[in-house]
Amino acid sequence: MQLAKRLDGIGEYYFSQKLREIDGLNKQGRDVINLGIGSPDRPPHADVIKTLQEETAKPNVHSYQSYNGSPVFRKAISEWYKRWYNVELDAESEILPLIGSKEGIMHICMTYFQQGIGVLAPNPGYPTYSSAIKLSGATPVYYDLLEENNYEPDFAEMEKICRSSGTKVKGLFVNYPQMPTGKLPTRELFDKLISFAKKHDILIIHDNPYSFILNDNPMSILACDSAKDCAIELNSLSKSHNMAGWRVGMLCGAKERIDEVLRFKSNMDSGMFLPVQLAAAKALSLDKDWYGQVNTVYKKRREKVFQLLDALKSTYSKKQAGLFVWAKIDERFKDCYDCSDFVLHNSYVFITPGGIFGSRGEKHIRVSLCATEEKIDEAIKRIKNLTE
Ligand SMILES: Cc1ncc(COP(=O)(O)O)c(C=O)c1O
Repeated sequence: MQLAKRLDGIGEYYFSQKLREIDGLNKQGRDVINLGIGSPDRPPHADVIKTLQEETAKPNVHSYQSYNGSPVFRKAISEWYKRWYNVELDAESEILPLIGSKEGIMHICMTYFQQGIGVLAPNPGYPTYSSAIKLSGATPVYYDLLEENNYEPDFAEMEKICRSSGTKVKGLFVNYPQMPTGKLPTRELFDKLISFAKKHDILIIHDNPYSFILNDNPMSILACDSAKDCAIELNSLSKSHNMAGWRVGMLCGAKERIDEVLRFKSNMDSGMFLPVQLAAAKALSLDKDWYGQVNTVYKKRREKVFQLLDALKSTYSKKQAGLFVWAKIDERFKDCYDCSDFVLHNSYVFITPGGIFGSRGEKHIRVSLCATEEKIDEAIKRIKNLTE
């Protein structure tokens, strides 16, 4: 069957392939410890599950839902943004619930980009940005995030890239706390991004799913002055509320942007199951104890992951936020793939090669915190057996 041209250059998602390989090893009796994917392994708060159960048992919640989400959920999002980010959002018009923020990336690209348009994307960065840009027909234009620049964009370099890319640059994907580098945002960085976007008439898409993980000061780009003129923000309950499989996210921004994205999205899905929205509203109302408990677990795991990386003679910063630790590989490995394959096939531990996030990640690996301390201990033991 001939495939549509738009799939040229789009492969199967890396983890989708890799999980098959891991499955194969497990079928041969290897008990692979997967420290690859950032999918929280712990459940949501008990009240969230109770809300889902109670709401699902009602007879009148099973029909199609409105395209722009339940007013209860939108109000909960607006209160959550006010409480934690100090951002005012009109619950009626400035919020669009999403069936996961990954899907939102695609909706945004389909709404604004097309052939002949360039869209800036971080290198290293979440691979979905470039696939969604390509699927829309536009061209990803990569900007480097280098350790020597503290994993912030070099704005002079971005100016040059914009001038020389051969396309009209119309969009800029940013993501702080940054995945995979774990770099936190600063207000100054957000302000600089906004000035840059205004100068070049570019839409910033800030992707913000990690702001509550191992970070005491969650920030939103929308808290900056006049941010809504040029920026929209994606957010998600996947990581902050242990709800990755529920597929709940949101897009926030000016009414005009929400209406524009809804014009595309309302042709793609038919709303989100109401009990899921009501349970998600419950999750957003949880107080700081929830985030405290989540982070206590990750902090302990992170200490273990540091030990694992020491066993691999990798180097890393201890000041990282998000669900992973980003580390530079030891020189004995040719590159990140060599390191990841060596660990997978000799100690049956899977760690993500940084190169899947772009060429600037080729000397790095990323280790997930979504495994129990016992599993990480076992992984350390296996790796030490190998290296000692
Ligand atoms: C940077 C980044 N953005 C977005 C997502 C997607 O999250 P969601 O579960 O809301 O689709 C992920 C998930 O891994 C991510 O790492």
